[in-house]
Amino acid sequence: MSVESKVRAVTTLRLKEMKERNEKISMLTSYDYSMAKIVDGAGIDVILVGDSAANVMAGHETTLPITLDQMIYHASSVVRAVNRALVVVDMPFGTYQGDSLAALNSAIRIMKETGADAIKIEGGEEIIDSVKRILTAGIPVMAHLGLTPQSIHKFGTYNVRAKEEAEAAKLIHDAHLLEEAGCFAVVLEKIPATLAAKVTKELSIPTIGIGAGGSTDGQVLVVHDMLGINKGFSPRFLRRYADLYTIMTEAVSHYIEDVKSCDFPNEQEQY
Ligand code: KIV
Repeated sequence: MSVESKVRAVTTLRLKEMKERNEKISMLTSYDYSMAKIVDGAGIDVILVGDSAANVMAGHETTLPITLDQMIYHASSVVRAVNRALVVVDMPFGTYQGDSLAALNSAIRIMKETGADAIKIEGGEEIIDSVKRILTAGIPVMAHLGLTPQSIHKFGTYNVRAKEEAEAAKLIHDAHLLEEAGCFAVVLEKIPATLAAKVTKELSIPTIGIGAGGSTDGQVLVVHDMLGINKGFSPRFLRRYADLYTIMTEAVSHYIEDVKSCDFPNEQEQY
């Protein structure tokens, strides 16, 4: 395979151009080869290997327990499936908040061992040294502000963030800082739509919203939520595009019935 053919169609530069011409950016999570094949094949612009894998793949309450090795396993499975989309991988909790050299080493491991295109990191001014250090290695960084699930124990709630003036002002300040540092995009999670619109207007890099209204340059959802695989999570911002939980339950029940009744396998289904 030539070097050129390994460069995916969607690049960080392409996302900036999309913002400039007002073309919305579509982004979904994936954590495994089969799902990523479907999501990429459908034409998504960005695939996020989110640390939400801790919730939807492993059943943890929060995103905190997932490890760097586990993220690398998920991301390398996704990358093997993807031809077109930009693949972004979450830096898991504990791999970048300490010192910037540890952050750089974690980001290098992700890029080297997965073949992904970029990393995502939660936070603003408090982690800016890590962001800058990662960028010095030529690794593209997507920022993440607003509701940052790795800080859930500090927030104490998954409610909307930055409703108060002071938190909104800090978010705007952080967004500019991250853009100046060289981030190529910023995820805005669960903040008032008016604030997201303001940030989107002020920044030249794309904003990708989740629960942040329709003015952001793109939208992201957790794929298990939007496909209705995960029944127990119904925030206002979530639109369900399928009810795969019901479809899959019916299919499994049907299979069980067929096995029990000796209907499966039939003569055509044996050697
Ligand atoms: O981990 C994740 O899925 C995310 C998205 C919700 C943006 O960070």
